Amino acid sequence: MDDADVRQNRNERVQGTLSRAIERAADILRAGGLVALPTETVYGLAADATQPEAVARIFAVKGRPQFNPVICHVTGRNAAEKLVDISPLADLLIDAFWPGPLTLVLPKLPDAPVADLVTAGLDTLAVRAPAHSVARQLLYAVDRPLAAPSANKSGHVSPTTADHVRQELGDEVDLILDGGPCGIGLESTIVGIADNEMQLLRPGSITAEDLEEATGIAPKSRNDSSITAPGQLESHYAPDHPLRLNAKRKQAGEFLIGFGKVAGDISLSKSSNLVEAATNLFAHLRAADRSGAERIAVAPVPERGLGIAINDRLRRAAAPRNGRSSGRTS
Ligand code: TXA
Ligand code: MG
Repeated sequence: MDDADVRQNRNERVQGTLSRAIERAADILRAGGLVALPTETVYGLAADATQPEAVARIFAVKGRPQFNPVICHVTGRNAAEKLVDISPLADLLIDAFWPGPLTLVLPKLPDAPVADLVTAGLDTLAVRAPAHSVARQLLYAVDRPLAAPSANKSGHVSPTTADHVRQELGDEVDLILDGGPCGIGLESTIVGIADNEMQLLRPGSITAEDLEEATGIAPKSRNDSSITAPGQLESHYAPDHPLRLNAKRKQAGEFLIGFGKVAGDISLSKSSNLVEAATNLFAHLRAADRSGAERIAVAPVPERGLGIAINDRLRRAAAPRNGRSSGRTS
């Protein structure tokens, strides 16, 4: 065997090992588990975006004190159009930059098969088609959209090697796919699109100039645009009806959302399971709104683990605003 043969042999072995790892990762994701995966920007902590409990687990592992919306990773335009409304302007950007480090925030289709927790109740969804070959192979193998924030504990910097992920999340992840160090090392550029304007929501390696060159339109500054910026993302879904927290029993005119021993009209989790409660939170708030009751009450949820994010969300939903006793906080 000459050197070329040896190299080819080794490449085939590596490729074989990789495809087995990707098959395993796909199985884990389909079963509702969590996989850390390399992208060209940073490592992501991925879950099947269609499974509410799997997405809730992302928040539990990251220790996020809030439910921030999460980017949905897809293979490309064909997969994205099942989830979001793609305007002509969005198409220009997709043609120019996908697959690659550009995330688009677009109107979510009403029947998009993604868990409420992915959008944190917003009616927009962030979609991105990563360019990294391991991420792409995994997306094709799973054949489902993958919700994936950066694979770090909340408040820490994003990981750019598999070792960073191991140090940070270790045993809490079912599998870490090692694709070597990330090429870009900086999170994707995020652009919000509404009508025929775009707003740079997070700067990244694709710059405002790149965006303008591809579309002929300059991205708007934050103050000059109607699109929600990450700093304003507290304005997630808030119920239309007033909300009372820490309710141990129902008062007249109320619809009670229970937890644990407090049964209520519906329960976030009868067994006091916080992952299940996070999974049900947004859907139950909507159901309460539609119930016909004048007011909504929610049972106490313990202030630990995922309960911290659940209570943060509930406090925002209950906060007075513009003379309303519940509403969107800003
Ligand atoms: O490069 C990246 O984008 C990496 C890799 C893993 O793809 N992911 C990443 O995700 O940085 P994360 O969760 O750490 O940051 C996502 C950002 C958050 O600031 C979130 O608020 C914003 O995207 N975002 C997600 N959905 C949104 C939406 N519907 N509207 C506005 N902002 C959104
Ligand atoms: Mg992050």
